[in-house]
Amino acid sequence: MGFHLLLSALLVLSRVFEGQALPFDKNYNISWGNNNVKSLNNGEEIQLSLDKFSGSGIQSKQSYSSGSFKMRIKLPSKDSAGVVTTFYLHSHTSNHDELDFEFLGNREGKPYTLQTNVFANGVGDREQRIQLWFDPTANFHEYSILWNSHQTVFFVDEIPIRVYKNNSHRGVGYPSQPMQSEATIWNGETWATDNGSAKINWSNSPFTAQFQGFNIEGCTSSNGIKCNSTKFWWNSKQFWKLNHSQEKSYKDIRSKHMVYDYCKDTNRFQTTPECSK
Ligand SMILES: *[C@@H]1O[C@H](CO)[C@@H](O)[C@H](O)[C@H]1NC(C)=O
Ligand SMILES: *[C@@H]1O[C@H](CO)[C@@H](O)[C@H](O)[C@H]1NC(C)=O
Ligand SMILES: *[C@@H]1O[C@H](CO)[C@@H](O)[C@H](O)[C@H]1NC(C)=O
Ligand SMILES: *[C@@H]1O[C@H](CO)[C@@H](O)[C@H](O)[C@H]1NC(C)=O
Ligand SMILES: *[C@@H]1O[C@H](CO)[C@@H](O)[C@H](O)[C@H]1NC(C)=O
Ligand SMILES: *[C@@H]1O[C@H](CO)[C@@H](O)[C@H](O)[C@H]1NC(C)=O
Repeated sequence: MGFHLLLSALLVLSRVFEGQALPFDKNYNISWGNNNVKSLNNGEEIQLSLDKFSGSGIQSKQSYSSGSFKMRIKLPSKDSAGVVTTFYLHSHTSNHDELDFEFLGNREGKPYTLQTNVFANGVGDREQRIQLWFDPTANFHEYSILWNSHQTVFFVDEIPIRVYKNNSHRGVGYPSQPMQSEATIWNGETWATDNGSAKINWSNSPFTAQFQGFNIEGCTSSNGIKCNSTKFWWNSKQFWKLNHSQEKSYKDIRSKHMVYDYCKDTNRFQTTPECSK
């Protein structure tokens, strides 16, 4: 009897902790636009807003060299043409590394486009775009980046939408510098929507995006363990490539929802070695 009681007590406890969200300021702080950052629900949710005067952003206090970075995001609703909301990793070095989710706002009723990009050693120009298959302004959805020394994978609600492999043996750049986890909202009307022709309608301002889930599973390399160590779950062999069911959903999503792929843009690029099999 004692054992069962203990077991159920432990189960309840673990559920309590599982459901408990880390307050924002444990791992993050405000990077810009203080007046447009609002803490909700005891810091378990953050609202970033864009008005005529400023956008805003948050960034992790620490830098990481591998990990699984997740954020739950609810995007600005209604007419958000020209408004860009982001969640990304960034190295803040001169030849910077960067892994981007960029949500490109749209006229009301039109689908939201999600752009991803990869910068390695200062070289970017690796945009891909998919149209989200749900309304990202109605509810929170989870966006995540898995980054280990074999692959970088972008997920939407655990569905892989992009894989960028470590092809450094073929001379292709791969992010290797410590990066911070960041989220922002800003004015991207010069390029983001319909090639920059759809401008922000300021009568709908402020534009607000909500963020949740501020725990970070990443290696800070401060504890002496190498950040490629398989002691970290995201480095273990099962995360070196997609498994069969992930591969299947990856292909399915891309065939149905991808609207731009730099790999296929022969007007812009002659050679993209990382794109060929
Ligand atoms: C954010 O946190 C970092 C690391 O703790 C610190 O160096 C920086 O000054 C902080 N920035 C602000 C605006 O508080
Ligand atoms: C990429 O792979 C090479 C081996 O091909 C390895 O030496 C390098 O450390 C990897 N890069 C990162 C950032 O892990
Ligand atoms: C944006 O520009 C690209 C390349 O010039 C073109 O193919 C595309 O049709 C344009 N899209 C819109 C919505 O104007
Ligand atoms: C801007 O938004 C307002 C309020 O929703 C609307 O009345 C107006 O027609 C919009 N303007 C344009 C150019 O879409
Ligand atoms: C980690 O990287 C080092 C080189 O920096 C390499 O010698 C080692 O084999 C790698 N470990 C794993 C588990 O890949
Ligand atoms: C594939 O990976 C996902 C995510 O890690 C996991 O949930 C699923 O069980 C795996 N499927 C197989 C067949 O291994």
